Amino acid sequence: MKENILEKINQAPVDEPDRQYYFMELARGLVEEKSKAAGRKLTFCVVTFGCQMNARDSEKLEGILEQVGYMKSEDENSDFVIYNTCTVRENANLRVYGRLGSLNRMKQNNPHMMIGLCGCMMQEPHVIEKLRKSYRFVNLVFGTHNIYKFAELLVQTLVQETMVIDIWKDTDKIVEDLPVDRKYAFKSGVNIMFGCNNFCSYCIVPYVRGRERSRAPKDILKEIELLVADGVKEVMLLGQNVNSYGKNLEDPITFARLLEEIVKIEGLKRVRFMTSHPKDLSDELIEVMGKYPKICNHLHLPLQSGSTKILKVMNRHYTKEQYLKLVEKLRKAVPDISLTTDIIVGFPGETEEDFEETMDVVRQVRFDSAFTFIYSKRSGTPAADMDTQVPDAVIKERFGRLLKEVQKISAEETGRLAGTVQEVLVEGTNDHDPSLVTGRMTNNLLVHFPGDESMIGTFRRVSLDNCKGFYYIGTERR
Ligand code: 5AD
Ligand code: SF4
Repeated sequence: MKENILEKINQAPVDEPDRQYYFMELARGLVEEKSKAAGRKLTFCVVTFGCQMNARDSEKLEGILEQVGYMKSEDENSDFVIYNTCTVRENANLRVYGRLGSLNRMKQNNPHMMIGLCGCMMQEPHVIEKLRKSYRFVNLVFGTHNIYKFAELLVQTLVQETMVIDIWKDTDKIVEDLPVDRKYAFKSGVNIMFGCNNFCSYCIVPYVRGRERSRAPKDILKEIELLVADGVKEVMLLGQNVNSYGKNLEDPITFARLLEEIVKIEGLKRVRFMTSHPKDLSDELIEVMGKYPKICNHLHLPLQSGSTKILKVMNRHYTKEQYLKLVEKLRKAVPDISLTTDIIVGFPGETEEDFEETMDVVRQVRFDSAFTFIYSKRSGTPAADMDTQVPDAVIKERFGRLLKEVQKISAEETGRLAGTVQEVLVEGTNDHDPSLVTGRMTNNLLVHFPGDESMIGTFRRVSLDNCKGFYYIGTERR
C-alpha cells in the first residue's frame, strides 16, 4: 500500500492549485482508512495565536482539513491538532512550548493523534532546532510561505513515520482558489498582500513573513464577489502594511484605488482594513475614506511611540508632529472617525522625557482604544543588540501609567455616542446572557441588545442606551 501511495505522490500534477486538489483527493483516501481503523470519524482542532493574518491562515487550513474528511472540533484532544503560532513577542513562544507539553500527554493516550505546528514562530531557525531535539512527538512543522501546500504536507505526514519539516525562507508565489472554512458566514478576512518591507527595528515580522507581495486586484475582487454571493456582508482587507498595497505589481495600483473598486461590489455592505502604517497613509486614501459610506468609520494607526527620537531609532519614518498632523487631516475628512493604535513601552533608549511624549500624543489624540505592549527583545532584530535596554522595573511602572491613561480616555470616548441610534451587524448571541445578541458598529464598537439567533448576520438599528466603558447596552429601534 505504501509503495502504491509513493507512486501516486510522484504522479502529482505540477501546476497549482491542481496539485493541491490532487493531494486533497489522496489525503481523503488516507484519512478514510485511518478513520476505519479508529472506528470513528477523525477530528481536528486548529488553535490560532496572534493576529488577524494568522486567523485567516487558520481558516485556510481548516478548509483543507474538512475537504479531506476530518471533522472540526474545539477540543484540543483531537486526532489532528495544529498550533498556528505567533512570534511577535517572546512570551508567545513560551506559551507554545508550555502547551506542547500538555499535548504530548494527550497524544500518549490517543494513538491516532497527530500534531502540526505552523506560523511565524516556525520561521525562526532556533525554534526548529529546539523542536527537532526536544519535541520529537510533533508530526508536522511548516512555515508561513508554504501554507498553500498544506494538502501536500498532510499526505506526507500521513504516510511518514518521522517528523515532516518544510520551512521556506521566502517566496514570490501566491496560490489562488484553495478551499477556506470561514469562521463567520456573514464576514470574512481577505488577504490583499503578504509580508512586510519596513523593518521597524524591534519587529520580527519582516524576517518571518518575508518581503511584500500584493495579490492582483482581479483576484481580490473575484474573491470578494464570491464571498458576497455566499452571504458575506463585511470584509476586512488584511496586510501588514495595506497602505503600500500594489506598489510592486506589474501594473501598479494604489490601495485607495483598490478600495474604490471594492466598494463598487453590489451586496457588499462594509469594508474594513488592517494594518495601516502612518508613513504611507496618503491623502488619496483619506479622501476615499471620507467619500464612501461603505468604508468603515475606523482606522487602526499604530503610533508605537510619541517621541520623534525613538521613532527614528525604531525606523518608523515619521515624527510626532507628522503623526498628529495625519490625525488632524483624518478627523477633518472623516468626521467622528474612530482611531485605535498600538504603543510599545520601554523600547531601548526610551527616557522619561520620551515616554512623556507618548503620553502627550495619547492625551492629544484621545484614541478610542489602544493596544499597549511592553517591549519584547526579539533576537535577530536591530533593537535586540542595542545596549540601551530599559530596566524591567522602569518599563513596568511606565506601562502602568500608560494603561491607566489609555483606559480612562477610551472609556470617555466610547461614551460619546450614548443616546444615538446606530446601525450594527449582528455577530452572535451573547456568551453570558442568551437573551442578548452582540452587534458591531461601523466604528468597531460592540453593543449588546435583546434579540435571538435568527438575527445573526443581519443589520439592525440600535439605540445606544447605556455605555459600559468599552461597549454599550442597547435596544433595537424598529
Ligand atoms: N515588542 C513589543 N511589541 C511589539 N510589536 C511588534 N514587535 C514588538 C516587540 N518586539 C507590537 C507593535 C505592533 C503590534 C502588532 O505588536 O506595536 O504594531
Ligand atoms: Fe513589523 Fe513595522 Fe512591518 Fe508592522 S510595519 S509588521 S511593526 S516591521
